[in-house]
Amino acid sequence: MKKIIIAIDGFSSTGKSTVAKQLAKALGYVYIDTGAMYRAVTLFAMNHNLVGQGYLREKELEEKLSEIQIHFKLNPTTDVADVYLNGENVERKVRTLEVSQYVSPIATVSAVRRKLVEQQQKMGEEKGIVMDGRDIGTVVFPKAELKLFMTASAEKRARRRHDELLERGEHVSYEDVLENVVTRDKIDVSREDSPLVKAESAIEIDNSNLTLQEQFDKILSLSKKSISEA
Ligand code: DC
Repeated sequence: MKKIIIAIDGFSSTGKSTVAKQLAKALGYVYIDTGAMYRAVTLFAMNHNLVGQGYLREKELEEKLSEIQIHFKLNPTTDVADVYLNGENVERKVRTLEVSQYVSPIATVSAVRRKLVEQQQKMGEEKGIVMDGRDIGTVVFPKAELKLFMTASAEKRARRRHDELLERGEHVSYEDVLENVVTRDKIDVSREDSPLVKAESAIEIDNSNLTLQEQFDKILSLSKKSISEA
């Protein structure tokens, strides 16, 4: 059977990665979380004092980009690929609210985007991939056979993200998480380079009122249809 590329874009905390992981498993495809790559660059920038409260040292970050190596490696316990920054497994470190606060400004830096997009395109050369992010259907794989655009209300998304953080032992307030979600939305849609926008041919899925199972069933059937037509 022909393999395809499935591009999933949408706002933060719309549950893209949850459904993308499930989908990749069901199809025997590779799953790539491109947000984790932007998060890994952010962690690097934080570690080198290139980003912080009220500043972003863009020029210095650009100069150091060649020192950043990102790769994914399957974690046998979770059966999902963890993200590595220069050989270190940073899967947990990149999910903190602190990284979430700085990642959107980092993702506005064109040189960062160029580097990561190039790596993402290489990962998709053999197809059989489910990739999620903000610009997958518009910039990374404009010819993807299936493009999905996920949405949900900001309150629903903040509630989900808050529950997730609490589960991981990060004690943050719901209000802070909501503020982070709204701020990130604004930066993601208004940045100059590759803003978050629904690709013309993308199918929009508003999951505010869908259960995970309903959402998965819908996306799996769309994927099977695209595969059969490829
Ligand atoms: O999906 P996420 O919340 O982990 O993504 C983190 C940030 O990275 C998000 O605020 C926007 C940015 N991002 C991006 O600009 N392009 C992508 N393809 C993926 C993420």
